[in-house]
Amino acid sequence: MAYNLLKGKRGIIFGALDEKSMAWQIALKCHEEGATFTLSNAPIALRMGKINELSALCGNAEIIGADATSTDDLENVFTKSMEVLGGKIDFVLHSIGMSPNVRKKIPYTETSYENFQKTIDISALSFHKVMQSAMKLDALNEWASVVALSYIAAQRTFPGYNDMADAKALLESIARSFGFQYGFKKKVRVNTISQSPTITTAGSGVEGFNAFYHYAQKLSPLGNADAEECANYTITLFSDLTRKVTMQNLFHDGGFSFTGVSVELVEQIMLNQE
Ligand SMILES: NC(=O)c1ccc[n+]([C@@H]2O[C@H](COP(=O)([O-])OP(=O)(O)OC[C@H]3O[C@@H](n4cnc5c(N)ncnc54)[C@H](O)[C@@H]3O)[C@@H](O)[C@H]2O)c1
Repeated sequence: MAYNLLKGKRGIIFGALDEKSMAWQIALKCHEEGATFTLSNAPIALRMGKINELSALCGNAEIIGADATSTDDLENVFTKSMEVLGGKIDFVLHSIGMSPNVRKKIPYTETSYENFQKTIDISALSFHKVMQSAMKLDALNEWASVVALSYIAAQRTFPGYNDMADAKALLESIARSFGFQYGFKKKVRVNTISQSPTITTAGSGVEGFNAFYHYAQKLSPLGNADAEECANYTITLFSDLTRKVTMQNLFHDGGFSFTGVSVELVEQIMLNQE
């Protein structure tokens, strides 16, 4: 059911690769809620992914390639988006993450620092670069909303998550620091959503992902949130109904983050001991 929550709003959605991507589901929901937006991803993802299909489903949304580590590319995304959409931007989704160490299964304690720097650059500093580019070009309207996607490994250790945990901690810190600056400067809101483990290309690349996923499912009173539910939550943050929410890391995880243990998990552990 659509509520016209984003009617007349203009946005930019970074990070839709295929239909499993969180950004894909969020784009569909933004379209359903009346927004117009551009889609951006890394040049290689534009070649390998299915973003053209998504564009067609979203009223032929313009696709603008950008490596999110390049401020030139990001400035181009904002300039072109304002041109194509006919004005300043009301919402931005940062749904970008990649760790060469995770990909190559290099353990955290034996990290390659070159890889580590790439992880931080792509998965965290790019969020700062997105906002710095927007601020430089004065590309956002007052009360615009910027959202990035995070994971609870920023607060608690999940060993297979490797250096992405450090990247997420920095991502959430950037939301607070930039949110403070952008709030005073232009009433722009900046938040991160800490999402349940979700079956996507980036998610499934994490070692032990299946175990994370099932453990979280059994621990969370409401069960894991899926990508479509993440999209529903995200559009509330892009809407005018949440104008005073900023600098927050918002858990969207069925209660996982505040649950110590569940009866089901205790029973399973007891069974294994018998
Ligand atoms: N899947 C999960 O379990 C989960 C849970 C919590 C948070 N997240 C976060 O959600 C976000 C989206 O991930 P997803 O799970 O939808 O997977 P995904 O693989 O579909 O999306 C990751 C995106 O990052 C893009 N990307 C990588 N390097 C880039 C670069 N240099 N420049 C521009 N784009 C680049 C990829 O092309 C891809 O579209 C990530 O930040 C991820 O960490 C995922």
